[in-house]
Amino acid sequence: MGKIGIFYGGSQKGSTYKAAQALINSFGKGLAELHNVSTASRKDLEKYEYLILGTSAWGIGEMHQDWERFIDVLVEADIEKKKIAIFGLGDQIEYPESFVDGMGTVFCRLPYKENVVGYWSTKGYSYYFSTAEKDGKFVGLALDEDSQPELTEERITKWVSQLRKEFQLN
Ligand SMILES: Cc1cc2nc3c(=O)[nH]c(=O)nc-3n(C[C@H](O)[C@H](O)[C@H](O)COP(=O)(O)O)c2cc1C
Repeated sequence: MGKIGIFYGGSQKGSTYKAAQALINSFGKGLAELHNVSTASRKDLEKYEYLILGTSAWGIGEMHQDWERFIDVLVEADIEKKKIAIFGLGDQIEYPESFVDGMGTVFCRLPYKENVVGYWSTKGYSYYFSTAEKDGKFVGLALDEDSQPELTEERITKWVSQLRKEFQLN
C-alpha cells in the first residue's frame, strides 16, 4: 500500500482527476493512491500517513458537490497526526473574485490546520480575491486548466518535489 492517499472530488470536466493522476505519476510508482471522494470512506482516510485533498471550485466559490458529504467524513476521521496538503482547480479569468475557492473551503473546514503543508506562491496568477489565499500564499497548489493549462505540468512537478521534502520522504 502507498503512504500517500490522494482524495479528489470534482471532475465534471475531468480536470481535477487529471491533476490527481499527474500527482500520482510524479510521486512515482507505489507511493500514492487515488480515491474519489464520492465513494471514499473514513477508513480510507485513516490508513495513510499523508493525505492530499483536491477539489475544483463550483457555484460561486464552493467546493465540488461531492466534497459536501466527504468534508464531514474528514472532520470526524482520526487524522490528527497526518500531514495534509491541498490542491485546487479553478479559472482565474472567468472567476477572478472566487479563484480556487473550493480549496479555501476545504482548508477552512480542516480541523488540524497546523498539519497543512504545501503552501504555494500566488506569483504567476491574476485574480482579485481567493479564500484559498492566507498571508499572501495559497494554502495549497492552485491549478488553472482553463486559462493556464500549459503551466500545470511544471507546477505539479515543483509542488511534488516540495511535498517530498515537507512530508520528509527522502
Ligand atoms: C458553473 C461553474 C462554476 C465555477 N465556479 C468557479 C469559481 O467560483 N472559482 C474558480 O476558480 N473556478 C470556478 N469554475 C471553474 C472550474 O473550477 C474549473 O473549470 C475546473 O477546472 C473544473 O474541474 P473539474 O472538471 O475537475 O470539476 C467554475 C466552473 C463552472 C462550470
